[in-house]
Amino acid sequence: MIDLIKLLNVNYQFNGSSGVSGISFEVKPSEFVLMVGKTGAGKTTLLKLISLELIPASGEIFLEKFRSSGIKPSTLPFWRRQLGIVYQDFRLLRERTALENVRLAAACERNLPNRPKNRSLKALARVGLSHKIHSYPDELSTGEQQRITIARALVNEPFLLLADEPVSNLDEETSIEIIELLQKLNQAGTAMLVATHQPERFTPCQPRYIRIKEGMIVE
Ligand SMILES: Nc1ncnc2c1ncn2[C@@H]1O[C@H](COP(=O)(O)OP(=O)(O)OP(=O)(O)O)[C@@H](O)[C@H]1O
Ligand SMILES: [Mg+2]
Repeated sequence: MIDLIKLLNVNYQFNGSSGVSGISFEVKPSEFVLMVGKTGAGKTTLLKLISLELIPASGEIFLEKFRSSGIKPSTLPFWRRQLGIVYQDFRLLRERTALENVRLAAACERNLPNRPKNRSLKALARVGLSHKIHSYPDELSTGEQQRITIARALVNEPFLLLADEPVSNLDEETSIEIIELLQKLNQAGTAMLVATHQPERFTPCQPRYIRIKEGMIVE
């Protein structure tokens, strides 16, 4: 099976010693991969490298027809459009409705079947929020806000969803709902790369585990 994304010996150092080093792994279509490791291990750093929010100091990331080394700023939007990204801190616009938050992320791409607004409505329906599309984030529960972030990540129909601690802000019941949603999306064909402190909650997704310790893959 071809790789959706492949990292080869990726290194990134913050000032001083922390960062990640020698990271190599790949994610294949429809896989559910769970990135585990204690706080400060480098999970968020790795997700930021994959979305090229941080640029690897050395090593290479391959994504579809692109490679990270020497990538031009003008190519970054095309790179990121292959990915759906669910941020730990949500990054929702408070003065915009759920629909507007999703719609603003919808690219006007010719090769996607529906128009941006229709795709936004469809993404909100997939996460079970059709009845709340005109609500503002502050009028919604944390779990509902998390659903908007997932709809926003899905709106350009990415092959791979990156999610940073998608359930760590949620109570247990809501967290089960969100994990069931991620599992359903995965079964419908979206590959998942999820960073979490609570791997036991994801057992139903039958994930493959990548364990990170002090910036390196240990298992
Ligand atoms: N902007 C930054 N500047 C300097 N050091 C940073 C920066 N961001 C992260 N680090 C350091 O890099 C290391 C890895 O951080 P990272 O956020 O990737 O960990 P994490 O595994 O996501 O942890 P958590 O489980 O708490 O979210 C930590 O030692 C952290 O202090
Ligand atoms: Mg983190």
